[in-house]
Parts: sequence; C-alpha cells; structure tokens
Amino acid sequence: MMFEAISSLPADPILGLMAAFRADSNAHKTDLGVGVYKNELGQTPVMRAVKQAETRLLANQQTKTYVAPAGQDSFNHLIAGLIFGDTLRDQLGGRRVTFQTPGGCGGLRLGAEFLQKVKPGAKILVSDPTWANHIPLLGEAGLQISKYPYYDYQNHAIRFDAMMDSLATAGQGDLVLLHGCCHNPCGADLDQQQWQAIAALAQKNGFTPFIDLAYQGLGDGIVEDTYGVRLLAETLPELVVVSSCSKNFGLYRERTGSLTVISANAASTKAAGSQIASIARSIYSMPPDHGAAVVIEILGDSTLNADWETELTEVRNRINGLRTELVNALAAKGIDQDFSFIQREKGMFSFLGLSVDQVHSLINNYSIYLVDSSRINIAGINHSNLDYLADSIKQVLSA
Ligand code: LMR
Repeated sequence: MMFEAISSLPADPILGLMAAFRADSNAHKTDLGVGVYKNELGQTPVMRAVKQAETRLLANQQTKTYVAPAGQDSFNHLIAGLIFGDTLRDQLGGRRVTFQTPGGCGGLRLGAEFLQKVKPGAKILVSDPTWANHIPLLGEAGLQISKYPYYDYQNHAIRFDAMMDSLATAGQGDLVLLHGCCHNPCGADLDQQQWQAIAALAQKNGFTPFIDLAYQGLGDGIVEDTYGVRLLAETLPELVVVSSCSKNFGLYRERTGSLTVISANAASTKAAGSQIASIARSIYSMPPDHGAAVVIEILGDSTLNADWETELTEVRNRINGLRTELVNALAAKGIDQDFSFIQREKGMFSFLGLSVDQVHSLINNYSIYLVDSSRINIAGINHSNLDYLADSIKQVLSA
C-alpha cells in the first residue's frame, strides 16, 4: 500500500478561513480573511469591462487550440506595457521576456524554478513579514529563504535602516523579494526615496531584485504603484517581476498573471526565455487562456480600458475611504489604542495589532474572520458590519 501512512496537513492559513467562514451560520459573520475585493454589499463582482470582454470573446473566439508555454504574445506585450509603461517596455526591447502564467502564484513558482535552474539553492531574502505563500512557492523550488527586517509592529512603520543593513549582506547571485506596492500582509509601502536607495544598493552590490506586483492599481494608482518596478527596470541590468490580474481585473479563479525576466542583453534573455518555456512545459505545458484573453480585450480597446480604469479607481477609492472610516469608528468607540496607521497604509491589508488569542476570540466569539497575524482585508468592511466590527474589536481589547 502506498497511501496508508500519509499524514494530514492543516488547512492553508488563508484559504482555510474561506471554508470556515462559509460554514459559519452567524448572521453577523464578517469575512476579513482572504484578499479578495468586496463591494458595499459584500459581493466580489465581475468587473464591467470583464463582462463585456467575455461577451465579445463568446461571440468572436474562433478556436480553442493550444497556444504556447509563454501564453499569448499579445497578452505578454500588453501586460508588460501595464507594468513598465509602453515607453520603457519598448526601450527594454529584447532584454525583456514576459510569460503569461497561471496567476501570480504560477508566475512566482515559474520564476523560482527558473532561478533554481540558473543557480541551484540561490539565496532569496524576503521581507519579515511577507505573504505566507511566498515561502512554499519559492522555497519548494529549492531557493534558500532568509528574511530581512521590514515592519515595525510597535510604530507601524518600515524598519528601513535595519532592512538596508540586511540587504547589504546580499551580493551577486542573491535575490531580494520586494512587494511592488500594497505590501501583503502589512500595507506599509516603500516611498520613492527608499526605492531609490534600494536601486543604488542593488547596483553597487549586484543582487537581483525579484518584485511581486500583485496589487497594481489598488494603492495610489495604476502608474503610481509601479514607481519601484519601473525604477529598478530602468536602473539595473537584471530584474525578475511577477504580476497578477487577480485583484486589479478581479480575475481570481481564472488564474491570470505574468513573469518577466530582464537581463543585460538580448542573447541572455532569449536563452532565459527558452529555459522558462521548457520549465512551463514540464509543469503545466501552457497557461489557461480565458483570463488572459479577457485582459487582451480590455487593454487593447480604449473604451473597455477606460471603463476598467474607472472601476479600478472606484475600488481603490472605496478601500482608502474604508481605511479612514475604520480608524474613525474605532476612535468613536473610545478605544485608547491609536489605529491611525491604518489610514497611512495601502492596498487591501493592515494588521490590527492583536494577539493570536485576541484574533481567535474575534473568530470564535464574534464570527469575524481574519488571519492569525491580525491581518485584515479592509475591503471586507462595509456599512452594515463596520459598527459590529469596531464594537467586537473593543470587546476583545478590553477582555
Ligand atoms: C491573500 O493574501 O489573501 C491573497 O493573496 C489570496 C491568497 O491566495 O492567499
């Protein structure tokens, strides 16, 4: 027998919350767990431009034949334009190769497998904290993970000096994972000067940044959120970038993302592309098409593109507005603790700063679901649950 001795693993810390929330019958249940956008009604709607693009695809798509391990060239061209801007994308020319991937996770794993091939057991420094799934996605490919200090839980700020001291230990052949914007889980983003300092250090010491850009457009704006990635692409000879269309196009289950590798010259990039194609072929052959086909329709059409940008702006403004409303609601309950940092942070997530016991009390006694680290998905808040949430936080803080 092969399977008798298999032991069970606990549910994924984020995805497990989704299942627990669905099974909860409390009328007040509130889902602040997994990072999906929700509107005021608590729904995760299909974006308007996506619906229109799907209607067009249904009418016009002529074939479902195979594409290629790199996915659709037009997706890769358009998504590189979204990440780098058309001008920089064109300037990079043959130094850049972009692969359509099965979501951001697929891009991270494909990138990690590629790096593992290039330099087996290469060291990759990740922020402390980072998204929990970064560790298996990168580590199980064989990369050696270590951490650099990032978030100061007391002062709710980036520990930038400590971070730079740690990055100074990285050199040629080492990788540094950076969150392009909307840091997951803490919401504290690097400012422009800090990105410049990182670019200068990478140039001086020769490490290769690996940027995870999963939330482009949910922080300050579609272009504003790419300051770091564009700066590093302009400045450095080599860069790895993964992007996701899960959040900004709302394509979660369609698994649509990208991996870009930039190298010093077109010949190395061509070789890198051949390696990545072979790895993709050996894992999943080629990425699913539908989400990428939708993105092509949207980014390639000025009317759909404008509507998508408008809706994404609505999403961003709603999240930023909720940040302020949560801070005000907590203050109005007379809670001593200062939560104003939530207003300064960006994207879907912030830490509430609660202990694991307090988090479990919110889950078990109030049916408010959040990650053990006390990370909340701000987009899960609405005007029907805000008061209950603020009240419940007050209760667990004073228990
Ligand atoms: C999250 O951090 O909640 C999202 O990125 C969704 C996921 O896959 O974990």
